[in-house]
Amino acid sequence: MKILLINGPNLNLLGSRETDIYGNTSLEQIESNLCSIAEKEDCNLTCFQSNAEHELINAVHSAGKNNFNSIIINPAAYTHTSIALRDALSGVGIPFYEVHISDIYKREEFRKFSYLSDIAEKVFCGLGIEGYELALMEAIGSSAKEK
Ligand code: DQA
Repeated sequence: MKILLINGPNLNLLGSRETDIYGNTSLEQIESNLCSIAEKEDCNLTCFQSNAEHELINAVHSAGKNNFNSIIINPAAYTHTSIALRDALSGVGIPFYEVHISDIYKREEFRKFSYLSDIAEKVFCGLGIEGYELALMEAIGSSAKEK
């Protein structure tokens, strides 16, 4: 089973960025924790982060070409702006799980709309970094059922 974890812009700064909102854990720590969970579940987890919209889109396309079972994505600010990322995700047709560390519905107005949520399998929002773990377990569970 192959799962791709995608993190969008500024999430490379986790651990030092707005720690009151996003906490003190770095992206590296999050990824390594998820990789060890995945390994125990016999799942191959690939992690990718970029600050560039086109690179996120290319990563989604390559997941399509390489037959990934599912995608876990925190699109960060592109959540609220990117029709292109939405089109990429619906274009490859791989089930995906949307993660937000903070509760986007309890913040500024402009964060309340997501271009992805209505086509996501599930949205994990406002659960802190635990949202990534829950998304991973959900993705593993549903990919296993498909087999
Ligand atoms: C975020 C929420 C977004 O609004 C913001 O732009 C981010 C992170 C989150 O994980 O809470 O960069 O996706």
